[in-house]
Amino acid sequence: MSLGVRAVVLAAGKGTRMKSARPKVLHELCGRPMLWWVLRALRDAGVTDVTIVTNGEVTPHVAAVAGDAGHAHVRSVLQEPQLGTGHAVQMALAGLEPGTGTLLVLNGDMPLVEAELIARAIAAREHALALVTARMPLPSSFGRVVRAGDRVARIVEARDATDDELALDEMNAGLYAYDEAKLRAAAAELTSANAQNEYYLTDTIARFAAGGERIVPVAAADYRSVLGVNDRVELAAAAALLNRRICERHMRAGVTIVDPATTFLEPDLTLAPDVTLLPNTTLGRKTVVGAHSEIGPNARLQNARVGEHAVLADCVVVDSRIGDFALVGPYAHVRGESEIGTGARIGNFVETKRAVLGAGVKAGHLTYLGDAHVGERTNVGAGTITCNYDGENKHETTIGADAFIGSNSSLVAPVTVGDRALTGAGSVVIRDVAPGERVAGNPARLLPKKPAPTPDL
Ligand code: UD1
Ligand code: CA
Repeated sequence: MSLGVRAVVLAAGKGTRMKSARPKVLHELCGRPMLWWVLRALRDAGVTDVTIVTNGEVTPHVAAVAGDAGHAHVRSVLQEPQLGTGHAVQMALAGLEPGTGTLLVLNGDMPLVEAELIARAIAAREHALALVTARMPLPSSFGRVVRAGDRVARIVEARDATDDELALDEMNAGLYAYDEAKLRAAAAELTSANAQNEYYLTDTIARFAAGGERIVPVAAADYRSVLGVNDRVELAAAAALLNRRICERHMRAGVTIVDPATTFLEPDLTLAPDVTLLPNTTLGRKTVVGAHSEIGPNARLQNARVGEHAVLADCVVVDSRIGDFALVGPYAHVRGESEIGTGARIGNFVETKRAVLGAGVKAGHLTYLGDAHVGERTNVGAGTITCNYDGENKHETTIGADAFIGSNSSLVAPVTVGDRALTGAGSVVIRDVAPGERVAGNPARLLPKKPAPTPDL
């Protein structure tokens, strides 16, 4: 759906108050850059024609951030040097074909903005300007909305305000729906005669008012949705609010989150109903968790696909799949495209890397399985190591089904251990073991066949 509304996002500011080498709008909240959140809200509001005013450090990242936020295409306009929000809009206007419709302008440092508020600003677009405002607790560094009677007369920046003006609690949110032609006229007239020697976009409001144009205030229902991020204290506060919002969405959809304050979720996760998240759990990038699975405490999952009824405690799972009914942890590390089969168990101090474990495999303790295939129901004893690296190359270990790998076995790859084979405790396996064979020792040697059970007489 396209509304035919064009948007300009102001993202060129230096962000000096962040005291960072990284541009402000690229600082992350809940695993996504600040700019991503603004672009995602625009997309959700149906705004697809987006121009971003950037600086040289932001420009190289714009396409990737926008694509990830769901925008097929955005325009960047460079603003060098950065002479204020009014100057940023002048740059944007210079880079755009003049239009006759509505031009939405919003700060790139308002990651909490929601599509619904953007939609309300757009809905008021028959006026010269819809100005989003919010009542906020004082003190605040926001620009104050100064009224003359009922009408909006101007905006005064906190740094230019008198004490009486600072006592006003109606704030300029940093989100505006302008009649573009009227904005062009007002923007051309801006000057930088103020405390910061900047061209303030907010000075257009006084011009509109003086020219008798209708300015419609659109009050945000919750001021927290328009909070700006100017320093790292505000960054953490905004991230906590976003995280809470994500947690609440999942809780309303049937996920139990025991402690949302210590559960950190990125957007775009897929969590089935009746998933339980225990404290100190972080779920990132494309993670999917199936119904009735329990994650945490102290779990970190990135790009993990977890089946149903799985239990993952005190563990790290990255770029891997965990099957239904699997048990992982405590203190396990599953990574590098590992696949843990249905009902398999990965216990204490077990690491898997590019390891495919069949259904019912048990690796309970102190084990490294790297570049390995392990067949169904095989038991991997405590201390087993796949020696997959010879100093130059990585090699594969293949273990069949129903095998028994004794404690402290070293499997020197490349090596294959057949179905139902056994390695004794402490074996150093440097040659393939055929199906059903039993080996032990260093280097491991063939043992006699297990004697057949004596028939009961
Ligand atoms: C701005 C508003 C203020 C409002 C507040 C809401 C102005 C003058 N003031 O103040 O009324 O209450 O937002 O959060 O607009 N930017 C550029 N180029 C520049 C300067 C800034 O692109 O030359 C971008 C920044 O990257 C930022 C946004 O514009 O995303 C706002 O700039 P910032 O300096 O943070 O303005 P505030 O002082 O917060
Ligand atoms: Ca700001």
